[in-house]
Amino acid sequence: MNYIPIRLNTLRPDVPVFFDLFIHIADKQIHYIKKNEIFDSHRLTKLRIKGVKKLFVSSEEEESYLKYLDECLNTLSQKNIELSKRGEMSYDTLVTDAENAERNLETEKSYAAVKGRVSKIIDFLGSEQGTLKSILEAAGCALDNHQHAANVSSLATGLALRVGGISPREVGDLALAALLHDLGKSKLGFTGPIQLNKLTPQQVKDYKKHPEKAVELLSSKKYVTPTILRLIIEHEELADGKGYPERKSLGGLSVTSQILSLCNQFDSYSMATQTPPTQAIKAFFEEKSQFFDLDHLAMLGDLLAGK
Ligand SMILES: [Fe+2]
Ligand SMILES: [Fe+2]
Repeated sequence: MNYIPIRLNTLRPDVPVFFDLFIHIADKQIHYIKKNEIFDSHRLTKLRIKGVKKLFVSSEEEESYLKYLDECLNTLSQKNIELSKRGEMSYDTLVTDAENAERNLETEKSYAAVKGRVSKIIDFLGSEQGTLKSILEAAGCALDNHQHAANVSSLATGLALRVGGISPREVGDLALAALLHDLGKSKLGFTGPIQLNKLTPQQVKDYKKHPEKAVELLSSKKYVTPTILRLIIEHEELADGKGYPERKSLGGLSVTSQILSLCNQFDSYSMATQTPPTQAIKAFFEEKSQFFDLDHLAMLGDLLAGK
C-alpha cells in the first residue's frame, strides 16, 4: 500500500475523520485512528507534544482526506475558532500543497482542487486583521523549499491584498505562482537555504537557471496561466537591475512581480539568518531596502506586526 503524508494541523479535533490514519514508527506505518472515529483533542495535543508533525493516509483514501480538508478550510471564516489555530491550518495546507505540487500538476482536476484550497486561504487572509501574522507565527523559519513556498505564498497574498488595486484573479495567480516559484530549484538538485557565495561558479550558473527550469516544467500544462509563468520567470529580478534572468529593473516589473520578488527575498533572508519572518523585517529593511518599493516594504512591516 502507498501512503500519503498529511500534516497534523490540517486535522480538526473532536470531529470524525472519513479515512484510516496511520503513524510512522520504526520504519512501519501503524494503524492509528479508524475511519469514522473521532480524533479527540487530547490525542492531538499528545502528538504535538511528542513533536509528531505528520500522519499518513493510504493513497486509495487520499480523495476522502481532500474532501475532509475542504470542509476544514470552510471553518477559516469562523471567528469562534482562535486565530492562531486558523493560521496553523492555513500554513499546513499550503505546505501540503507545496509538497504535493508536482503530483497535483499532473491533472487539471487536481490542479483545480489546489486552486480551490488556495482561494479559501486568500479569503482568510483578506478577512480580518492579524491573519498573515497568524500564518507566519505557525510557520517560523522555513527549513526547506516546501516551507519556503508556503511562506512566500502567504506573504505575497497578504501583501497584494494590502497594496490594493489588484484583481482577485491576479491575487489568485500570485498565490499559486508563489507556491510553485522554486519548483525548478529542487529539480536542479538544490534543496534548503542556498548561499550563493558558498557555491562554485558552475553551481551558481546552474542555480540561476531555476526560474527558467520551473517555467520549462510548467509551460506544457495548459491550465497554468501565462501570468503565473511570467511571475515565476521574474521572481529573482531585483529593483537595481542585478537580478536574473533578464536583469529587469523595478519599472519593468508588474506590481505582482515586485511583490513576489520582495516576499521571496524576504523569506530567503529569514531562512539564511535563521530569524523568524515576524522578527526579520527591521534588519531586512536596513540591509535590502534599495532593492524594493519602499511603500511595499512598509506595508509588509505593518502586516508582520499584525496591523
Ligand atoms: Fe528562487
Ligand atoms: Fe524562493
